[in-house]
Amino acid sequence: MTDTFKNTKKLYIKTYGCQMNVYDSERMAEALGASGYETVDVPDGADMILMNTCHIREKAAEKIYSELGRYKQFKRANPDLKIGVAGCVAQAEGEEIMRRQPMVDLVVGPQTYHRLPEMMKQVDAGEKALDTDFPEEDKFDHLPNRQLPKRAPSAFLTVQEGCDKFCAFCVVPYTRGAEVSRTPERIIREAQELVDRGVREINLLGQNVNAYNGDDWSLAKLIWALNDIDGLERIRFTTSHPNDMTDDLIEAHGTCAKLMPYLHLPVQSGSDKVLKGMNRQHTAEQYIRLIERFREARSDILISGDFIVGFPGEEDVDFNATMDLIREVNYGQAYSFKYSARPGTPAAERAFVSAEVADERLQRLQALITTQQRALQESMVGKDVDVLLERKGRLTGQMVGKSQHLHAVHITADDLEIGRIVRARITNSETNSLGAILAS
Ligand code: 5AD
Ligand code: SF4
Repeated sequence: MTDTFKNTKKLYIKTYGCQMNVYDSERMAEALGASGYETVDVPDGADMILMNTCHIREKAAEKIYSELGRYKQFKRANPDLKIGVAGCVAQAEGEEIMRRQPMVDLVVGPQTYHRLPEMMKQVDAGEKALDTDFPEEDKFDHLPNRQLPKRAPSAFLTVQEGCDKFCAFCVVPYTRGAEVSRTPERIIREAQELVDRGVREINLLGQNVNAYNGDDWSLAKLIWALNDIDGLERIRFTTSHPNDMTDDLIEAHGTCAKLMPYLHLPVQSGSDKVLKGMNRQHTAEQYIRLIERFREARSDILISGDFIVGFPGEEDVDFNATMDLIREVNYGQAYSFKYSARPGTPAAERAFVSAEVADERLQRLQALITTQQRALQESMVGKDVDVLLERKGRLTGQMVGKSQHLHAVHITADDLEIGRIVRARITNSETNSLGAILAS
């Protein structure tokens, strides 16, 4: 008898952390799709729950264990339910996860999820499966092609992974491993496939994306090649490191029409003493000069950054230097965090700044960033911007999309085609978005 009926199993993936994890979750869903799994939006009734975890800040592992505790009820309701932990906590904790939470069937690190279908066979046979290697082969080369029929207009595409920088606070070099770039050929093919499925904007991802060097291409060269894909309208990239910035990438912001005027360039601190303690290998001044060069290439570029307050050894004078740097750069957007000691990183051995001091600094820093962000948004009222439509709004007669500067824009308009770029006139600025009408 031929097997004409294929049973579909339900896969629930919960994603924590960065955009790269969002991308990885999609690819894991595709890898397991080949083994008969289809993704569902809720854990109730799933045959497999997979947590794609993040380890960047404190309590990450604890959060995962408590979430696993919550999944016990699903396991009770369905003893055949399989539970997996993927991502950076899986890499860092490894076997410990199964020791502490024996109901976990599978632990897979970020570099080996192309082996998931094989691992699932083990799990289906009632065994435990664990793989936290850093293999030689490129996991992406071993994954099935991206199969989803129609895609949202904006997509992530990982081009580079891992980090060789070893900032003193950061676990990434340990959880994601050394810097590795995918080949331009594969990236261009994947980008073309995304565009064929309706994608209009691609955000190139890498922990140090501007360190990209696949087949000795620079990131700028890759961007120029993607610029030639018909139907692709917008190219973005994140996250960059100041020390890997190249002249051709700066220049491309002034010359490559599809490259968006947005730069996420973390600096972490404005104090040279703290930057040294962080092993950032650059000064505040070098960072500021770099931003100036981007502004010379593209005057309206929106600058975004990451900051850590309360790093060991940060004194008032250092924090004030960070505030000065923020005033000088004038950010359109930024992410800021209280320093969190990560076991195994050099800074974790050093004396901490008290939580009260760090809290107070974080509040002041965030207030300053908010002021800058609002001022920029206010300055856009009355101006026309191009908006890539991503979805209908929650209110009827409203469409939501992103401007070139990555502002969320809510346009008063009925039923426009998702994926279209429309010209909109900004009418008002809200906390996290801009209101607009269609420009005539
Ligand atoms: N504590 C606080 N923030 C951190 N980040 C990375 N590691 C830590 C840590 N140990 C922040 C940095 C980085 C962003 C992704 O997360 O600002 O740029
Ligand atoms: Fe972490 Fe520094 Fe590498 Fe960024 S550059 S991933 S902060 S070690």
